[in-house]
Amino acid sequence: MLGNKNINDSNHLQIAGCDVVELAQTMGTPLYVYDEDLIRDNIQEYKQSFQENYPHFSLAYAGKAFLCSALCSLLDKEGWWVDVVSGGEYYLASAAGFPVERIIFHGNNKTPEERRLVLQGGVGRWVVDNEVELNFLLEEASSYTSYRVPLFFRLIPGVDPHTHQYITTGKIDSKFGLPLGEAENVILKALQSEDLEVKGLHCHIGSQIDQIDPFLKAAEIMLQFMADFRKKYDFVFQELDLGGGLGVPYLDEEKGRFPSFHFYVRAICEKVKSVCDELSYPLPHLYIEPGRSVVNTAGSTIYRVGSVKEIPGVKKYVAVDGGMADNPRPILYGAKYQARIGNRVIGKKERVSVVGKCCESGDVLIEEIELPSPSPGDILVVEATGAYNHSMASNYNLIPRPGVVFLRGGKPELVVRPENWYDLVRRDIIPGKNKEV
Ligand code: LLP
Repeated sequence: MLGNKNINDSNHLQIAGCDVVELAQTMGTPLYVYDEDLIRDNIQEYKQSFQENYPHFSLAYAGKAFLCSALCSLLDKEGWWVDVVSGGEYYLASAAGFPVERIIFHGNNKTPEERRLVLQGGVGRWVVDNEVELNFLLEEASSYTSYRVPLFFRLIPGVDPHTHQYITTGKIDSKFGLPLGEAENVILKALQSEDLEVKGLHCHIGSQIDQIDPFLKAAEIMLQFMADFRKKYDFVFQELDLGGGLGVPYLDEEKGRFPSFHFYVRAICEKVKSVCDELSYPLPHLYIEPGRSVVNTAGSTIYRVGSVKEIPGVKKYVAVDGGMADNPRPILYGAKYQARIGNRVIGKKERVSVVGKCCESGDVLIEEIELPSPSPGDILVVEATGAYNHSMASNYNLIPRPGVVFLRGGKPELVVRPENWYDLVRRDIIPGKNKEV
């Protein structure tokens, strides 16, 4: 099992001291649950690893992995930053009371509304992705702000992280960031502005990465760029943000395949220190932006089994009351998951396919898994769904999105209420009546 789970005397699965069968009964299914202590431990482990290895750093959680007010509050207490990639994420974090001075604003095509919202609301670091965006900022900054907008420039380091092609971002051919050859002129333009303040550089090479080398290579390329720029223009970048991307196991057999947080942080810090030493460059303030690795293992999804159907000689289908709408990762990336029967963890197993309830043959959560005789009414728990599940969920087939519960010391706390059917239709306008449903 992944994370802090155990089996209780009734042969039920327990997460953070909570019996999943009781959770399903009291909170309904499907339901996203998070072990709050595990998130907290991850937040602290990252922080401690940096404290042991580097003099000045900031940790920014990538909100696209999973964002809600309760998480913002945990991050705030630990002094973390939050990276947002849209007006919506910015709105959520700032409405939750997260200090805007610790928000990093990303995006390869920030809309006029988003730019205005963030400029007026205030921001910790604005990551300029391309020249068009810089031109907009040059025009708009002074009318919306009374401060100099603190900038990072996102560069493409040209490193292949060897992960799924949909989540590879740092290779030369990428929709994100400035090619190294173009970046110089764009940065020089910003340096001439009274309204903008160039703080540093940013890169992000991809996600679910299981090796350290691509991160180190990217760090080296970024520092070399910084040193070359200083040589030519006598300007020192004070800060460097190396993005997120550390992978984590989704299956028991993947345990040990990924570097630990500590190993990853130490390797990056050592690299930055040694390259700076070689280039006689002052140590930049270092940022990283982990998302998945902070929350994925802490999250699980609790479903109830409905239909069970055997096609003799072919396979047994076990359908749950959710699927691709709450977890699109299997159909998008071929992602693999493991699951347990929450009300009968140990029992004689049979081979089945776990499928969802969407009207789509590809709505398969787990193609093949051994489970103890899944039957209608059983509770099925899919593990490691903490990242990019809630945040990527859709209303396909007009299915309401599940609520989110944080679990701590045996107690559940609802942090995002489940959607209801009214939520799904309230923007719909009834023709002729010119009013919402
Ligand atoms: N910083 C930036 C600029 C990013 O684009 C991302 C992720 C992160 C940080 C966080 O990366 P992480 O530590 O979570 O790997 N939907 C995909 C993942 C997309 C990642 C996008 N960017 C999935 O479900 O695998």
